[in-house]
Amino acid sequence: MSTVVITGANRGLGLAHVRRFTERGWRVFAGRRAGSPADALHALAQEAENLSVFDYDAADQSAPAAVKAVLGDEPIDVLFNNAGASNVGAGGQGLDDVEADAITATIGVNAVAPLMLTRALIDNVAASEKRIVANQSSLMGSIGDNGMGGGYVYRTSKTALNMITRSLARDLSGRGVIVVALHPGWVKTDMGGERAPLSQDESIAGQQSLIDGLTADSSGRFFNYDGKELPW
Ligand SMILES: NC(=O)c1ccc[n+]([C@@H]2O[C@H](COP(=O)([O-])OP(=O)(O)OC[C@H]3O[C@@H](n4cnc5c(N)ncnc54)[C@H](OP(=O)(O)O)[C@@H]3O)[C@@H](O)[C@H]2O)c1
Repeated sequence: MSTVVITGANRGLGLAHVRRFTERGWRVFAGRRAGSPADALHALAQEAENLSVFDYDAADQSAPAAVKAVLGDEPIDVLFNNAGASNVGAGGQGLDDVEADAITATIGVNAVAPLMLTRALIDNVAASEKRIVANQSSLMGSIGDNGMGGGYVYRTSKTALNMITRSLARDLSGRGVIVVALHPGWVKTDMGGERAPLSQDESIAGQQSLIDGLTADSSGRFFNYDGKELPW
């Protein structure tokens, strides 16, 4: 049985991934921020013996050590750093209304937190069969794809996550760990909004089939939900 640890699992793409991994018979550890509504996740955990819920706040620097204490030496086939926010602070995304503190705080949640959680759990990942770290990035973080400008807070945080992904891939290749950045597509969630063309099911089915097919050669690369490679 494979094991996945996924953050931001109480709603949106994280919850959809939890549902599907659980149905597929994986052992699932689902991180959610204490105090956030998580009724659907807890209801699922009541029914599924292979699902456990743990507290995880990406803005809390003590969180990685606490998660490590919960997981102990459990091998983790896939560490899925999914939790993310478009703007943790005040202000907007544009040149006129962006606020400096918002950029820093959002980089903390979207990029630094995945790095620190990965470091805390790396022995668990390296001890598993699949040895995968999947970082939920965004095409908005691609420098090569940025034809529109703006998006200073969110774009910058996901670009930072992309660079972290590439460095982790290089640093961990000797341990056989595969590290990838993923773009889920533009998906109907609280973040993606109603106008998004993709359903959660389409996105997460694509992402899970992509994860199933990853090889050592995939490490350090950036993939769309449908398997297409994306420009950094
Ligand atoms: N939807 C899209 O079109 C799209 C496109 C590209 C990339 N993405 C990425 O996909 C991931 C999931 O997005 P989504 O669309 O499912 O968004 P969502 O519906 O807004 O869900 C975001 C999830 O991240 C969690 N989260 C936010 N800040 C957190 C923190 N400080 N600590 C722990 N958890 C935190 C939220 O928990 P709370 O309930 O506690 O807030 C929630 O579970 C994100 O990384 C996002 O950037 C989404």
